[in-house]
Amino acid sequence: MNEFGMWSKNISFTNGNLHLSGIPVSQLAKDFGTPAFFLDEDDFRTRALGWKSALTEEFGPHTGNVFYAAKAFISVEVAKWIQEIGIGIDVCSGGELSVALAGGIDPEKIEVHGNNKSLDEIDRAVHVGVKAIVVDSLQEIDRVAAMARKYKKTQQIFLRLTPGIQAHTHESISTAHEDVKFGFSIASGAAWLAVEEAAKHPELELRGIHCHVGSQIFGTESFELAAERLIAFLAKYRDAFGSQLPELDLGGGYGIAYLPEDETVQPGDVIPALGNAVRKFCQLYALDLPLISIEPGRAIVGPSMFTLYEVGTTKDVVLEDGKIRRYISIDGGMSDNIRPSLYDAEYHAILAGRESTAPFISSRIVGKHCETGDIVIKSIDLPSDISPGDLIAVPATGAYGRSMASNYNHIPRPPVVAVKGSQARVILRRENNEDLLALDVKE
Ligand code: LLP
Repeated sequence: MNEFGMWSKNISFTNGNLHLSGIPVSQLAKDFGTPAFFLDEDDFRTRALGWKSALTEEFGPHTGNVFYAAKAFISVEVAKWIQEIGIGIDVCSGGELSVALAGGIDPEKIEVHGNNKSLDEIDRAVHVGVKAIVVDSLQEIDRVAAMARKYKKTQQIFLRLTPGIQAHTHESISTAHEDVKFGFSIASGAAWLAVEEAAKHPELELRGIHCHVGSQIFGTESFELAAERLIAFLAKYRDAFGSQLPELDLGGGYGIAYLPEDETVQPGDVIPALGNAVRKFCQLYALDLPLISIEPGRAIVGPSMFTLYEVGTTKDVVLEDGKIRRYISIDGGMSDNIRPSLYDAEYHAILAGRESTAPFISSRIVGKHCETGDIVIKSIDLPSDISPGDLIAVPATGAYGRSMASNYNHIPRPPVVAVKGSQARVILRRENNEDLLALDVKE
């Protein structure tokens, strides 16, 4: 049981009222409306620094960088924090690159991902001077080389490799098995072909290799196995080319708690395990320790945010076995959290704005969209006196919540409100009706 694993560090409960940094959610709801994401800035910074210090402590002079995975959640303000904290960022589109640059992130700390980067995206990445482009196809090797020639630059690249690992997570978020769109397979020989292809281009500097096992991964085995296979590949490279590639990027994917019984992968547990594996296999192949980088996204921002909803309606449904299920409809749903519908992701929720001593009733929390599958939580016991106007908080929605939000049913996307000390401020405003109409061409 790890109740606070789902919540950020400045969360507290008093008389049934959830507080963030001492501010009751009833006040937050009054000031900012619902639905809304509330981001504990201090928690975000602490987690980001936690990964940075664990990596530095473990690898010392062989530390590469922590590249925060922007896809989990990014805004200009958060990009500023990343720059201040001094970690790097992994972007996987031109849009994410724009936000990172707008937040003042040094291009030298930006790594560019994507399995189908457009020519414009490659052009801009090379032009602004990003640290590295993580190449994902043979065509892209030529495209990046052409752009480097255009700007008369040498572009650093990594090759994204597929180590053939079956990560134990949802199929849609495991990325390192063979039958997947990402990376060059080591087993099939595609990875080696990519090395040979890259070597033909003097405008490219192959800095290292990369892999991302998948997301929401627990335990250390998958990461250790990935390290083993990538280091064997580094040895093969050294043997063929007579010199060693300097960097190894082991991706992100560290799991977090969504339910009270879940654990959160701690940097202090997984990074030393990675360190042991990396040292062991480097020793085995007589390699120098490369610079080691990682790319956590969810593990930094996931627990830092919760979503606050207001209950609009309730309804009791009699099930086939005669039992009652209470449907609690909140004012958001699948447009601000697609994860339950997309990955069967499970979340926890609490009555957040007042105390209740009412007995619990089997409930389902559903959204307001015109879709049966618009379910935030399939089954949860909640106080039976929950009624319209009550506040419901869902923890651990920071990663892939707002970033995967949509305008389905023309619902405006919720704001993100950052809370630091006793100050709460909007860092990403709520969409409004004008935003929803902004793209329609009106003669
Ligand atoms: N690095 C690379 C190359 C990645 O592809 C990803 C995630 C990450 C890092 C960060 O992974 P994290 O530490 O956040 O797990 N929408 C899905 C997750 C897709 C992740 C895709 N890549 C979800 O909501 O679970």
